[in-house]
Amino acid sequence: AKLLVLHGPNLNLLGTREPEVYGRTTLADIETDLRARTEAAGHDYDSLQANAEHALVDRVQAARGDGTGFIVINPAAFTHTSVALRDALAAVAIPFIEVHLSNPHRREAFRHTSYFSDLAVGVICGFGADSYRYALDAALARLAGAAA
Ligand code: DQA
Repeated sequence: AKLLVLHGPNLNLLGTREPEVYGRTTLADIETDLRARTEAAGHDYDSLQANAEHALVDRVQAARGDGTGFIVINPAAFTHTSVALRDALAAVAIPFIEVHLSNPHRREAFRHTSYFSDLAVGVICGFGADSYRYALDAALARLAGAAA
């Protein structure tokens, strides 16, 4: 099965964006690691970073017909705003894990609400780039279970 990883707005700037909050690892570094681990586990890998909400909605909709078995998503700022992206994930009914580099619960009050957490299989936050790795491990375990 295929794993789809989605990154929301401004995550293309990882490495230079508020490094005291998000760390110095670039999105390219994260992507290289996730792809290698996924392919080593025998699964296909696809990903998208987009700053535009509609691009993420379109990609989630396309996932229903392209063999995607599991999604890992960091909706970034859309976490706190996007009913549209939430509805897309609900529509395709593909299980997903919500990821954040920072721990939004330790930050401003407007980051304490997520439109995704109550639909997610689980939420991983606060471990910097390692949050993605932990989420990937959980996603691969789920994909392996689904294949068995
Ligand atoms: C984030 C947390 C969000 O509140 C923020 O808008 C982001 C990144 C994170 O990964 O820590 O852009 O999703």
